[in-house]
Amino acid sequence: MTVDTPSFLERRRVLAMAGAIAGGLWLPDSARAQPRLVTDPFALGVASGSPRHDSVVLWTRLVQTQAADTAAWGLAPVAVRWEVAHDEGFQRLVQTGSVNAVPELAHSVHVEVQGLEPDRWYFYRFQVGNAVSATGRTRTFPAPGAAAQKLRLAYASCQHWEHGFYSAYRHMRAENLDAVMFLGDYIYEYGGSSKSVRRVPTNATISLDDYRARYALYKSDVDLQAMHAACPWIVTWDDHEVQNDYAGGVQGTFGPEVPDFAARRLAAYQAYYEHMPLRASVLQKALAGVIQTGSELRLYDRVAFGRLAVLHTLDDRQYRDRQACTKGGAFGSSGVNPATCASWNDPARTLLGVEQERWLDQSLATGGGTWSVIAQQTVFGQRDFKPGDGLVLHNDGWDGYAPARTRLTQALQRHKVSNPVFLGGDVHSNWVGHVKADYARPDSKAVGVEFCGTSITSRGGDNKGLAEVLAENPHFVMADRERRGYGVAEITPQQLSVRLRVVDDVTRADSGVSTLAAFVVDQGQPQVHSA
Ligand SMILES: [Fe+2]
Repeated sequence: MTVDTPSFLERRRVLAMAGAIAGGLWLPDSARAQPRLVTDPFALGVASGSPRHDSVVLWTRLVQTQAADTAAWGLAPVAVRWEVAHDEGFQRLVQTGSVNAVPELAHSVHVEVQGLEPDRWYFYRFQVGNAVSATGRTRTFPAPGAAAQKLRLAYASCQHWEHGFYSAYRHMRAENLDAVMFLGDYIYEYGGSSKSVRRVPTNATISLDDYRARYALYKSDVDLQAMHAACPWIVTWDDHEVQNDYAGGVQGTFGPEVPDFAARRLAAYQAYYEHMPLRASVLQKALAGVIQTGSELRLYDRVAFGRLAVLHTLDDRQYRDRQACTKGGAFGSSGVNPATCASWNDPARTLLGVEQERWLDQSLATGGGTWSVIAQQTVFGQRDFKPGDGLVLHNDGWDGYAPARTRLTQALQRHKVSNPVFLGGDVHSNWVGHVKADYARPDSKAVGVEFCGTSITSRGGDNKGLAEVLAENPHFVMADRERRGYGVAEITPQQLSVRLRVVDDVTRADSGVSTLAAFVVDQGQPQVHSA
């Protein structure tokens, strides 16, 4: 029994991590794997994300599908060359470099390219041995405070593999976007079911290997890959990246019971980092975070698109208190009558956590954009599902954390936040409406607008009874549960316009697309109008 060996191993692992993160750890050639490639190591595609005015993250992950080749480079770092160019032919190179893909991070690559010009498109690609990746296209944002005339964003969420094909992404590619905001449920953790459009393995994801394999399956989709290669993505997660309805450190529901939920969450968080175009700074609680103790992945973020917009991305899963008064005291969520739940209005309960709430308050006070986008996981506005007197609210979203929601709507007013726009996902349906100063007072003013998007593929309900729910919640002007797709938001100094794009048939890879509804919001007026 010795204590030296584990700490030595940890140190080696952290050093290897640091090499991957800094992109600069020098290794003699003899220490680098010289893999004999049989299959395409770039079979999971390329991606870019976390755009700034001078920087962007380039992502890929090396894979080999043949066991012999996996074994050949299994434990060794692999040197990956990257190139950024002005042109698709890579004749006018901007920057090149080499980074080590390390086995501790599943041979994923996260290159943080610095010193780029603002408000400009670039091409990028990777190379290992004689294998060259697909070419990706990415862009920097206009510098904070700079004039910007137009920003085109898609917002998307919930891409259950088994429920359909990603034809939505094929159509999204034609939208000429500056960025995609992905708002959670990138994967689903469930084991496969027989009633699926396309299958996943029968086991639920529990271990790091399980989650890695699930991401690899999702990322094998060519339409998803092509959309990642088309523009930078800004990402956050919801529950299914770990487990349905989990809350902070508390397990959710469905699938096998695991003895150690913290270990499952840790594995899931690490696999998420490995497969997303995220900055190493999300690991700031460590190397000591994902690899050793603790597990924070700091996803919440803000980025300015010139002075046209500030985009906030929130994380309402990682730091939240447990759902209040779930039926039968069970884990997970349910409908709740708040009048029967003593903790419902406890101001100490939080959805974002104390630190993120403080950060958001400060960011909103700072302002910086004509439009203040708050992209988060779920519906923001209250949805009362009980016709007539009394309330039945779902306790998993903002409705279940009403005092925290009120703190946020008060912050919008206190800081005179310019044109707040909430984007959301989670509920597999489109909800469009006004954010109210006080949901208990229907006559209170609108302090922002909300566009909660439908799922890319995940099944929703039908529209039976929806008219009654809308009548009960008149701050929403439109809802639809039946259609899958994404939203496109075009932002100019004068106006926000949003089109809800929906596929004809999610079970067909060649599905067409159409516009279900379109809306505009004029600068200075939190009023949603039909376009
Ligand atoms: Fe979902």
